[in-house]
Amino acid sequence: MRRIYGAEIEMDRIVASASAMNALMIAIQCLVGAGDSAVVIGPVWPNAENAIAAMGAEVRKVDLQVQPDGSWRLDLDRLVDACDATTRLIVVNSPSNPTGWMAGEDELRGVLEHARARGIWILADEVYARIVYGRRYAPSFVTLATADDPVVIVNSFSKSWSMTGWRLGWIIAPRELNVAIEKMTEFNISHPTTFAQWGGVAALDRGDDYVDALVRRYAEAAELVYQRLSEVPRVRLSRPRSAFYAFFGVDGVTDSFGYAVELIRRARVGLAPGVAFGAAGEGHLRLCFAASLPKLSQALDRLVPVLRG
Ligand SMILES: Cc1ncc(COP(=O)(O)O)c(C=O)c1O
Repeated sequence: MRRIYGAEIEMDRIVASASAMNALMIAIQCLVGAGDSAVVIGPVWPNAENAIAAMGAEVRKVDLQVQPDGSWRLDLDRLVDACDATTRLIVVNSPSNPTGWMAGEDELRGVLEHARARGIWILADEVYARIVYGRRYAPSFVTLATADDPVVIVNSFSKSWSMTGWRLGWIIAPRELNVAIEKMTEFNISHPTTFAQWGGVAALDRGDDYVDALVRRYAEAAELVYQRLSEVPRVRLSRPRSAFYAFFGVDGVTDSFGYAVELIRRARVGLAPGVAFGAAGEGHLRLCFAASLPKLSQALDRLVPVLRG
């Protein structure tokens, strides 16, 4: 047994992967192929949908809707409507990169009930489940789904333990699917590097204080970024509640890629253009605040005057 976010998970339901990216690819290789469709909640970090397309399956994007206060909301009816007889998979990234959307337990339960009823798999990318502000964990399929539910949960050492370069993560899946996941892992990578796995064991056994301190620092960074960007009248953003991104709309910006290039040139600050996360991200920019407070402060001093226009 391994305790993960408040749930006890049997060890034979967990497979080590070489990062979340590798975990997503392996799960997708096991679950979709030509003729299938997969519904992806966006705007979102684009790797999962590209992996789905690489397998020859159709990607159907269901976008979160931006609220007047700059936060994002899932319309469950739209998600249900996007599924048909070809749909094998729903991809849920919560907490989300880039929007910081954190699905509520009710929303996750709604997706789960729909998936159960229709025999559709859920692929849950929960790499930011521990990076949440004002609570300990994000609502998670780890606690909501049973061992037999059609749910595959992906996580990683990259975010909570800052071990990005170690390329280590894990997959939790029902036992029947784990047989295929283990084979696919063998065909792709054999296994994640052994000494990296020992690093992961140390992180799980002794890394809690590190994660707590990291989240406290990110919470300060989130507040700094929120306060400084909120000063700009044309910026629309809600207070980040999870992950380490501020995803904000800028009035008058219709080409976020061009605007991001302009910000590099004029402010010497690199932000990701919203359109990189799908059409629904257009008009937005993503600022990653996983940096030291002095560095962020300096970046904001340069950025805010340019954003003011
Ligand atoms: C939502 C999401 N999933 C997965 C990853 C990749 O994580 P890993 O470094 O474990 O491949 C990222 C990295 O940015 C991410 O934002």
